[in-house]
Amino acid sequence: MDMLMFELNKNTTKPLYEQLYMGIKTGIMCKQIEVGTKLPSKKKLADFLNISQTTIEVAYAQLIAEGFIVSKPRIGFFVEDFDELPYIETKQVELPVKTAEEKIIQFDFHPGKIDTDSFPFSLWRKYAKDLYDLPSKELLQIGEAQGENALRSEIAKYLYQSRGIVCEPEQIVIGSGTEQLLPMILRLLENDSNFALENPGYSAIPRIQLQNKAIPIPVDEDGLIVDELERTNANVVYITPSHQFPTGAVLSATRRTQLLHWAAKAENRYIIEDDYDSEFRYTGKPIPALQGMDQNNKVIYLSTFTKSLMPSLRVAYFVLPSTLLKKYKETFSYYSATVPRFDQHIVANFMRDGHFSKHLNRMRKIYRKKLDKLTHIFKMYYPEVIITGDQAGMHILISLPLSISEESLKKVAAESSIAIYPVTDYLLKPIEYKYPTFLLGFGGIPLEKIEDGIHQLMQCWGIAK
Ligand SMILES: Cc1ncc(COP(=O)(O)O)c(C=O)c1O
Repeated sequence: MDMLMFELNKNTTKPLYEQLYMGIKTGIMCKQIEVGTKLPSKKKLADFLNISQTTIEVAYAQLIAEGFIVSKPRIGFFVEDFDELPYIETKQVELPVKTAEEKIIQFDFHPGKIDTDSFPFSLWRKYAKDLYDLPSKELLQIGEAQGENALRSEIAKYLYQSRGIVCEPEQIVIGSGTEQLLPMILRLLENDSNFALENPGYSAIPRIQLQNKAIPIPVDEDGLIVDELERTNANVVYITPSHQFPTGAVLSATRRTQLLHWAAKAENRYIIEDDYDSEFRYTGKPIPALQGMDQNNKVIYLSTFTKSLMPSLRVAYFVLPSTLLKKYKETFSYYSATVPRFDQHIVANFMRDGHFSKHLNRMRKIYRKKLDKLTHIFKMYYPEVIITGDQAGMHILISLPLSISEESLKKVAAESSIAIYPVTDYLLKPIEYKYPTFLLGFGGIPLEKIEDGIHQLMQCWGIAK
């Protein structure tokens, strides 16, 4: 073998063993070095290239590990036969063309935005710093599939104190967001089930799984119309009783009882209660969860830290009735938890030390101030705009005295760098609205910018002060 083929460059940052390994490997792959060829001994090659024997040893060891050469004791190193990798000629796949630079949005009224200025970064950092250290080394191993017991216990305590829910940590399953947990619930109840959804409603569910199969149930100012549900063949209903998304309606007491009665009438009937933003209620008493009223193991309670902490955390959970636990374990025994253990413990410790409830109290005041400002501006300058859903959460609905389509209004707003979301985006089945209606999320708009944002929006729509 021609030893001169290796040109090693001692002036680059690439290690010599790597250059040597690559040189021989390329030679073998291009068939410049034939199968069966005996490579020079380590000593010979080291002398020839004027480098250490260790360098040769490392390069040869790598080639052996990858199966390019074999070492025959006391005889030498030989090039191995190897199967060539299949090469399939493929057409060049066109990557999506990058659109011209994204337009800067001045005001984004998306209902999913939170206030980022008030997040307790230093406290959170402390909890994260404390955890990422040797005493927590056990957290490097895989954790419990349902989520960490520490976090499930904190959630159980919190649910009891703030939502009237009595449950054991064993009934709680933690996952990376409602979006990830909902399909699990739907799968759990899948056999012969017909699912009913609120219309308008949380658009992620039909997008996630149900598509055209879901039965839309209308909603009015008292929440889901249970009479309508009773007229269908649905046996599972997804509902946001404390704060209907997106209308903001609260399920009335009569309808709560009616719904629980409906569920109790058949063994396979269930209610999926999504309590996504119950922490943020600004008037009256908190609305207790349906789960706490249920005597028949019919409610699967679902909630999230998306509004109460941050959407990017991706931590949500559901509480299963004890009757479904066995089936849950059978169905999902092969799945591991989807939230990193360290993140789960940060949240658990934050809750354990009382910071979660303090954070909620602070945030409630901040959002209430934003909401008050928003409604004040409308009352003061634009009384003809109808506001609904202003008792809770981080968005309201506005209906405009205009006969222009929502799509056109959205476009006009976008031209003024304002992002706004029509209620029709959340429909499973078309509804004729008397006026164009939009969701107006205020969580992500700084308090001092709210007034300007509303004026700019109204101005671009030609609604005069
Ligand atoms: C009705 C409803 N449920 C749940 C969520 C939260 O989803 P996730 O936990 O996947 O962030 C949202 C969105 O903010 C929502 O509007």
